[in-house]
Amino acid sequence: MMEENALDYMHSFLEDQVKNRDLAVDATLGTGRDSLYLKDSLKIQRIYGFDIQKEALDQAKERLGDREGIQLIQDSHENMGHYIHEEVDVVCFNLGYLPGGDKAVITKKESTCRAIEEALKLLREGGLMTILLYRSHKGAQEEVEAVLNLLSQLDQKKFLVHWLSFPNQKNQPAYFLGLKKRTKK
Ligand SMILES: C[S@@+](CC[C@H](N)C(=O)[O-])C[C@H]1O[C@@H](n2cnc3c(N)ncnc32)[C@H](O)[C@@H]1O
Repeated sequence: MMEENALDYMHSFLEDQVKNRDLAVDATLGTGRDSLYLKDSLKIQRIYGFDIQKEALDQAKERLGDREGIQLIQDSHENMGHYIHEEVDVVCFNLGYLPGGDKAVITKKESTCRAIEEALKLLREGGLMTILLYRSHKGAQEEVEAVLNLLSQLDQKKFLVHWLSFPNQKNQPAYFLGLKKRTKK
């Protein structure tokens, strides 16, 4: 596997392992592109999508149309445990700001880390998490460091974590972070 960018890696990582699964969380809904991918390409049956901005929910609703099994929630992803009371197969984070939206409204390291911790609890054994980490906007570097610091401390017997960078590409391309919750032996 030799993909061109972080989004392609995210797709390859998920395609290999989560086709036709039951439940996904799109922790940063934005314009709904990732949810559309989860629904149409990976055939995930049910999706919870979170975003704090009404504008994002409106755009996502338009993109997703009348597809069934998608619940959109205007709340911070750190509160996902208030809405989801069952194990999930996959959680996707695509951090940063809404494409084409207000660049001042961004994911923040504190709430992002709390949300990742919540997601780790909800993931079923064998479940996957993907995180796309953008680097060029204000506050991005701190968020990258906080996320890497958090995931570096996870017990390697319980979680497999890897991250990918593109060191010779211009304009600070996004990092891809992939995580799998290991199955207990
Ligand atoms: C890079 S965009 C996501 C792109 C999106 N997945 C798509 O397909 O268009 C990041 C999104 O995270 C949202 N966001 C920021 N803070 C958040 C939070 N605490 N909880 C949930 N979403 C948040 C922003 O409003 C923005 O829409």
